[in-house]
Amino acid sequence: MVKDAKTGECYRADHLLKAHLKQLMSDEKCSAETVAGLEDVITQMDNYTQQELADLFVKYNVKSPSTGNDLTPPTSFNLMFQTSIGPGGNMTGYLRPETAQGMFLNFKRLLEFNQGKLPFGAAQIGNSFRNEISPRSGLIRVREFTMAEIEHFVDPSEKNHPKFSNVADLDILLFSSKAQTSGQSAQIVRLGDAVEQGVINNSVLGYFIGRIYLYLIKVGLSKDKVRFRQHMENEMAHYACDCWDAESKTSYGWIEIVGCADRACYDLSCHSKATKFEPNKGAIGTSYKKDAKLVLEFLAGCDECYIADQEKLLTGKGEFSIETQGRTFEVTKDMVSVKRFQKTLHVEEIVPNVIEPSFGIGRIMHSIFEHSFRKREGDEQRTYFSFPATVAPYKCSILPLSQNQEFTPFVQQLSDAMTKNNVSFKVDDSSGSIGRRYARSDEIGVAFGITVDFDTVNKTPQTATLRDRDSMRQIRAEVAELPAMVRDLSNGTLTWVEVEKKFPIFEGQETSSKKE
Ligand code: GAP
Repeated sequence: MVKDAKTGECYRADHLLKAHLKQLMSDEKCSAETVAGLEDVITQMDNYTQQELADLFVKYNVKSPSTGNDLTPPTSFNLMFQTSIGPGGNMTGYLRPETAQGMFLNFKRLLEFNQGKLPFGAAQIGNSFRNEISPRSGLIRVREFTMAEIEHFVDPSEKNHPKFSNVADLDILLFSSKAQTSGQSAQIVRLGDAVEQGVINNSVLGYFIGRIYLYLIKVGLSKDKVRFRQHMENEMAHYACDCWDAESKTSYGWIEIVGCADRACYDLSCHSKATKFEPNKGAIGTSYKKDAKLVLEFLAGCDECYIADQEKLLTGKGEFSIETQGRTFEVTKDMVSVKRFQKTLHVEEIVPNVIEPSFGIGRIMHSIFEHSFRKREGDEQRTYFSFPATVAPYKCSILPLSQNQEFTPFVQQLSDAMTKNNVSFKVDDSSGSIGRRYARSDEIGVAFGITVDFDTVNKTPQTATLRDRDSMRQIRAEVAELPAMVRDLSNGTLTWVEVEKKFPIFEGQETSSKKE
């Protein structure tokens, strides 16, 4: 975060710098070489340390966008919402920034559900909360959002997915960390090759990348607007050993929509203790006198991951600092050492690794809307959403050709059968022409349309037309078989190509396709 030095208005440092660099790039006088350099900075934005970011603000002379005032140097900001728990309000709590933690805390029970065997997975969907500095862009950056997460626990010595071959032949646009740091572009790579060459850490992670890709395409994202971007070293969350984000190309640029991290064993090892600080009470007492108790209590409560991080500082700088009860204390090499337990094992003890696909539902929805938005050829005014039938809110429209009362019993028969088949539908018996009503149905992405016309009423067997939204092609089939057909088309067990092969093509009705 950076602040306007005079007004105190806050900005997210990386976003502000990126916007500033883009503005510099748009200047006609900016040479191709400078543009390439600025692009490189943007690509590596998530990789910079706080100090590097501060240096870039100075280098590019970034000022407050609304006032032109100076900005404070970047500082870290806690994205977790703090709150008080209970009627007394004296217990501090934090709203969850991800749904994952519940599954880690319940690990033992989940393992029991799976007869004590690995691998197994758990999934959860729910709200997450982040105190975003600048929420904006519709569903893309909000402070409360729906997240869906999978935790797939594996034995670290068996990080091979038995079903990886099902996805190994997928060709996916990959943007590796190496490509990002060396200024290369993303490449289409066969997933199997990426795992074999070690670009993707292991085949379990590779398997989930493949499944995420298939899911995104199935719900309506365009293949050419989906890529997987690997986190760079500094960008990787403290808990991850490899991480790939599924990104979608939108009018806001490439945005992260699904994170897929190999959290190795971080979360589970943090919840079990096998390492502790061994304090040198004499040295701490000499330095901190009556405050020594505070320091000793703090050191006794540290978890393994924290200890491992501080151990690195002890080795490198010879000290680290702690904060307790609002005060800071330096802990030096002579005050503490790290003790690791030696245990005699009678059973094999492992800490499972976990692969975590984490879906931001709002961002996926936003991408579906953008990627599915279409205009009819030659008629710019006539727009529609090409939602795949599986995700279209309405699967089918039922349209009587006109308001003639003779059509009513057929509309009723079709409606009842749709309900029985669990197919969501919409009846449009308003007075507009059939062409106008098709356009209206297409505009909200209804996948199919059934039209009851005079042949339905007057001929035996009683037939109606079924229209496919995207191709606008129609077939004619018996009224009684149409609801199950729409059900099968909507759940993906039948395709429109198969339908066209089986039933006669119908041409007619859609006289006026123009929006009236
Ligand atoms: N447990 C892993 C985790 O939380 P993340 O990448 O921070 O990973 C997962 O978040 C997904 O949640 C992101 O890929 C994104 O789609 C979505 N997301 C994150 N912050 C968001 C926000 N402020 N508003 C909407 N969606 C957000």
